[in-house]
Amino acid sequence: MLHTRKRRRALIAGVVTVATAALGIGLSTQFASAQTTLRGAADEAGIDIGIAVDANQLQNNATYRNLVATEFNSLTAENAMKWDATEPSDNSWNFSGADAIVDFAEDNDQTVHGHTFVWHSQTPQWVQNLSASAMQAAMVDHINTLANRYEGRVDSWDVVNEVVSDNNGAMRDSFWRNTLGDGYITTAFQTARAADPNADLYINDYSIEGDNAKSDRIYTIAQGLNSQNLIDGVGFQSHLILGQVPSTMEANLQRFIDLGLKVRITELDIRIQTPADANELQQQANDYERVVSICAELADCSGVTVWGLRDADSWVPGVFPGYGAPLLFDDNFGKKPAYNAVLEALGGDGSEEPTTTDPGTTTPPPTGDGDCTAEIDVVNDWGSGWQGNVLITADNGAVNGWTLTWTWPSGQSITSSWNATVTSSGSSVTASDVGWNANIAAGQTMNAWGFVGSGSSAAPQVTCTAD
Ligand code: XIL
Repeated sequence: MLHTRKRRRALIAGVVTVATAALGIGLSTQFASAQTTLRGAADEAGIDIGIAVDANQLQNNATYRNLVATEFNSLTAENAMKWDATEPSDNSWNFSGADAIVDFAEDNDQTVHGHTFVWHSQTPQWVQNLSASAMQAAMVDHINTLANRYEGRVDSWDVVNEVVSDNNGAMRDSFWRNTLGDGYITTAFQTARAADPNADLYINDYSIEGDNAKSDRIYTIAQGLNSQNLIDGVGFQSHLILGQVPSTMEANLQRFIDLGLKVRITELDIRIQTPADANELQQQANDYERVVSICAELADCSGVTVWGLRDADSWVPGVFPGYGAPLLFDDNFGKKPAYNAVLEALGGDGSEEPTTTDPGTTTPPPTGDGDCTAEIDVVNDWGSGWQGNVLITADNGAVNGWTLTWTWPSGQSITSSWNATVTSSGSSVTASDVGWNANIAAGQTMNAWGFVGSGSSAAPQVTCTAD
């Protein structure tokens, strides 16, 4: 291997095996360490516990920033290092978000997993329209520019993302492949290797957690790249559904390790049909514990990155209608049962009560004597459209029903929405609860609903009226 970076992993904390030779048996005793943060436990275990971060929140939200600094030892930019963010038009660069994230990581002694050089999504039209030779040149230039800029500061890169389709392991018919042929993958890895020989290079994909046709294809690609010493690891995104951690996950990761590669859980979230009840949150905790334990027990699993901090920050409700609550912290930054489960899986002390409200025991419903405030959180913006999540806070008492109104500043409109009844008239919007998300306890904030908007993103002043 070309790599000189010291491995973080020292030992798996707290697992001591006492061999009782006389009896011919081994006693395995698990001591929970005293660590009470994910970061403390992960540092002790020598593993990355990562978080996908949003550059705006990192810069503007102190609670968000503190949790990112204290609970995680590794960062991934959720969007800020993607092509549409960094090179929106040819050779015109914007590193503001990416720089903010890398600076933050440096200030807080965190590793950075770079995401991502080459992907069919969130890549501007100007790239997609290029001729083959121009597209190849643009790809090489893009990789060189990012890898050089962050050399020594970004520890590993997702060089290519989602290159295999969901159709029985066939290669994805992306504009990359259609224009350049499959060779673009090797070219991307060669370019990245030459640009930063010390960075670990990954291929990243979803639905490859278990042993299946898609992970078989990734295996073949990884094997080929590895024979040329162009790859160091495989990223398993792990956007999972409640109760569906694949039974073959550990064995599947192991076969990649057996090739001499690292593995990494790069985008973990576990989605639940909303509203989630207490049993589902417990099942989610068990699922998280399983996934993190698999990584913690494999010597060549470099870490686990969770795809967002709070449920309110997650991409899930916008992309999988009816699903949400997939992360470790609730909308109010409270720790969910899954948080404690991850802490335990990392060898820490997860015995503290979760701080999140247990939806199974929040009876009777609050009396609606409060007022409310609401804000639109722009969680993604792809130029021609954007996703807004709407956070509602109950002030001065509980809320049990709400209606929001606002006026778009410059011609925006809602193209689709979830978890609210929405009516629009010209630039005015009215939205109200759909029953299950009517009740908000005093002082709490709920990630109540969301929408996809047309045009440029906007966060207008929202008026919230409690019923
Ligand atoms: C998602 C982000 O979380 C969203 O904010 C954005 O709107 C779309 O992309 N696979 C990936 C990630 O590799 O980059 C995606 O992130 C989620 C799926």
